[in-house]
Amino acid sequence: MNVMNFRLLTAGAAGVLVLAGAANTVEAASSSSDSLRALGAQVQLRIGTAASPLDLSDPTLSQITAGQFSVLTPENEMKWQVVEPQQGTFDWTGADNLVHFAEMHEQRVRGHTLVWHNQLPNWLTQGVASGAISNSQLRDLLHRHITTEVRRFRGRIWQWDVVNEMLTDSNPSQINPNDFWVSHLGPGVIADAFRWARAADRTALLCYNDYNIAGEDGSNAKFDAAFSMVQNILAQGVPIDCVGDQGHLDLQYGFNPGVMTQDLQQYASLGLKVAITEADVRTFVETTDSKQTPIVSPTDSTPSHTADPAAADWYNGMLQSCLTVQACISFTVWGFDDSESWVPGTFHGEGDADLYDVNLNPKPQYTALQQTLSLAAGAPNRLGRNENH
Ligand code: G3I
Repeated sequence: MNVMNFRLLTAGAAGVLVLAGAANTVEAASSSSDSLRALGAQVQLRIGTAASPLDLSDPTLSQITAGQFSVLTPENEMKWQVVEPQQGTFDWTGADNLVHFAEMHEQRVRGHTLVWHNQLPNWLTQGVASGAISNSQLRDLLHRHITTEVRRFRGRIWQWDVVNEMLTDSNPSQINPNDFWVSHLGPGVIADAFRWARAADRTALLCYNDYNIAGEDGSNAKFDAAFSMVQNILAQGVPIDCVGDQGHLDLQYGFNPGVMTQDLQQYASLGLKVAITEADVRTFVETTDSKQTPIVSPTDSTPSHTADPAAADWYNGMLQSCLTVQACISFTVWGFDDSESWVPGTFHGEGDADLYDVNLNPKPQYTALQQTLSLAAGAPNRLGRNENH
């Protein structure tokens, strides 16, 4: 019996398959029983989103943030650049607000992220570059940063992305020697970070988080490197509890959900939990400069745009992989609102990556997740009492 069947059998009473009309006209499930969080709860899977400060403060956005999701990740508000903009001067406003919001709405929190080469405070990177901060001092500063931030939220963070993106697509078979932290402190910094985080919070699940580490881009090179890395960490007795595969997909690169399922199951075979931590599916959109040949119809400006159907299928594939692997404890999208997505600012000419369009209408991507969760919670039983066919 695969885990999907197990989930169906244990999900209890037959669920109701949400019958959607034309995908782009379905209203987001406003009733709590049809929300992603409620449907996920029926199979013990937390459905989450990255959240910006606006997602917590805007009345319409916050209703979706609270109503649809049961775990939140701060998109930027717990990153070192934000919490310690000047050395010794801390700004916990955004992080405190998100944790408070989550606790008010019975949501859990994924802390993100303690050790990453991006979004470091200028005083740190400039101090290292100038030589004012030695490698020994850098190690002490990282230890203090991890201890300070993890202790502040001790007992209130479900999963911590302790270390983020230590592998690289260009040289996928090994830990990136050119990573800011590895180049200054050596690969041992990864184990140190997990030990320091555990010392500061005995209960949080400590995760390694990265993209393309579950075969999603068609290559298993990064999976092999990530699997080997976490195996080595475990062999050293280092406290690591989970692996987060980000799930940032791009329609131009392909996606194999079967490989993702196998790879997530491989991490689970080490005794680790797994999670999809930053799911979104980007594609080319018609641009205003019309230099790009439109691959899909205009998006973002018209609420009735028709998305490429593959985008919904790929979201579904990631969710089904997570549902199939019993150790997969959460499925988080990296924001839900196309108008706030990180994608257009990073990948010119691409967008349409999230569950809701810029007018906050649910897209086929949303409906696909909702229907899959409904089925996982228990498809209606068709055999009536006296029917024997
Ligand atoms: O807050 C400043 C603002 O004061 C300033 O005026 C503005 C213009 O310079 O920049 C603002 O900071 C931006 C920050 O997001 C907050 O909006 C940074 O420039 C911008 O680079 C940063 O982008 C974030 C990106 O990580 C940085 O690499 C995205 O929002 C965020 O979604 C993205 O998230 C990452 C995950 O943390 C790790 N996995 C990959 C994922 C996508 O890159």
